[in-house]
Amino acid sequence: MRISVFGLGYVGCVSAACLASAGHEVVGVDVNPLKVDLVARGLAPVVEERIGELTAEAVRSGALRATADVAEAVGSTDVSLVCVGTPSAPNGSLSTAYLERVAEQIGRALAAGTPAAAETPAPEPPAAGAGRHTVVFRSTMLPGTCEDLLVPILERESGLTAGTGFGVAVNPEFLREGTSVRDFFDPPKTVIGELDRVSGDVVAALYEGLPGEVFRVPITVAEMTKYTDNAFHGLKISFANEIGAICQALGLDSHQVMDVFLADRKLNVSPAYLRPGFAFGGSCLPKDLRGLVYAARRADVSVPLLAHVLPSNDDHLRRAFELVTAAGGRRVGLFGLSFKPGTDDLRESPMVELAERLLGKGYDLRIYDANVSLSRLVGANRDYIASRLPHLGDLLSGSAGEVLAHADVCVVGCKDPDVLDALAGAGDRVIIDLVRLPDAAARRAHPGYVGLGW
Ligand SMILES: NC(=O)c1ccc[n+]([C@@H]2O[C@H](COP(=O)([O-])OP(=O)(O)OC[C@H]3O[C@@H](n4cnc5c(N)ncnc54)[C@H](O)[C@@H]3O)[C@@H](O)[C@H]2O)c1
Repeated sequence: MRISVFGLGYVGCVSAACLASAGHEVVGVDVNPLKVDLVARGLAPVVEERIGELTAEAVRSGALRATADVAEAVGSTDVSLVCVGTPSAPNGSLSTAYLERVAEQIGRALAAGTPAAAETPAPEPPAAGAGRHTVVFRSTMLPGTCEDLLVPILERESGLTAGTGFGVAVNPEFLREGTSVRDFFDPPKTVIGELDRVSGDVVAALYEGLPGEVFRVPITVAEMTKYTDNAFHGLKISFANEIGAICQALGLDSHQVMDVFLADRKLNVSPAYLRPGFAFGGSCLPKDLRGLVYAARRADVSVPLLAHVLPSNDDHLRRAFELVTAAGGRRVGLFGLSFKPGTDDLRESPMVELAERLLGKGYDLRIYDANVSLSRLVGANRDYIASRLPHLGDLLSGSAGEVLAHADVCVVGCKDPDVLDALAGAGDRVIIDLVRLPDAAARRAHPGYVGLGW
């Protein structure tokens, strides 16, 4: 494939040299004449393992060249890979200035170089975008940037329509500086946010033969995945560092502690606890987080991340409460009361807290939780409910259908089969989904449905 790479910084220069060495015909473009000159002479503008040899070899073989002439680059290639910087603005927001500029330039080049016939849609989409240029954004940008900001610029400047006159995709980059060439050839995954199938096919063809799973997703999802990854990486490092600081203050070797932590691939380094949902609770997590933060404070160790976990958790409770108040109805049905599915344990259950806040505001509440109802008769919770939560015990109903019949607003905190059955008859009641119901994807389109974080 013939590829223009815009921006010869860390991402662009590595992408250009690696794509050229993989057999593509690549032209690098940069506004910085020094970088263009370096690449043209076979020299890498950045310091990275193997990048020097790869650049030299690609330029020597003619697979890679560099230019400052945007129109010439776009006109002689099938794909533009945009790798310009997206630095932080002084207020912390993302600066899109370089992206906007490059979109203008590519748009103008498309206007200059595209025959009028390209606007006419082909009866069958051409294979891998043949005959139309595809603009692929590799730079990191917030969801909405491509479709709301850059596509309109490309369309305005080119006079063409995205999806017809030219293709568009977002293809975030996951390389790490220092090992970027290795990461290019062995990526953790390839994410392709596609405006249409043909645009996505073009990107997929660029990386054909590389390992790792390929995700074809809407453009905004691709934009968000990069932020999700980097937020998690920062979170992991800060978590490990805070645990390290506490260990050091307590005279422990944090690496020995983390060896044990990391060996747990079921609950720790695993997909467990990583699906957005409702607040956590129960007899362990809140108590133990409080205990650890208290121990850190006593040892004069600052742990801002750990100290904000419980406040963050409370925020989800508050959000759920606000969703109920925003729904308007006064008759509320609560499905689920224990702190998580499959148990009757009510200790520090966020559903109990939510119920109490709603009662406090005068909502007319009915509650269904099969496990709690059962334990109320026979189990260990009997005394707990009688002594600590008699006001909630009285609102418990033995049937999900009864609670549904009472409610204008259904707050769903469990996915028990009898709850799902009852909700099938919810009609136009408001459903506030705290657990991501199995049919949440379909329900999201309905105005009465609100997901807590989806
Ligand atoms: N550096 C990384 O490890 C890394 C990893 C993944 C993603 N990213 C993302 O990739 C993007 C690029 O990062 P980088 O570190 O390579 O940036 P960089 O600052 O090293 O390089 C950006 C290049 O773009 C050039 N440029 C600016 N405007 C241009 C234009 N109109 N036409 C052509 N070239 C232009 C600049 O001169 C510069 O050489 C950013 O969005 C970044 O967040 C970076």
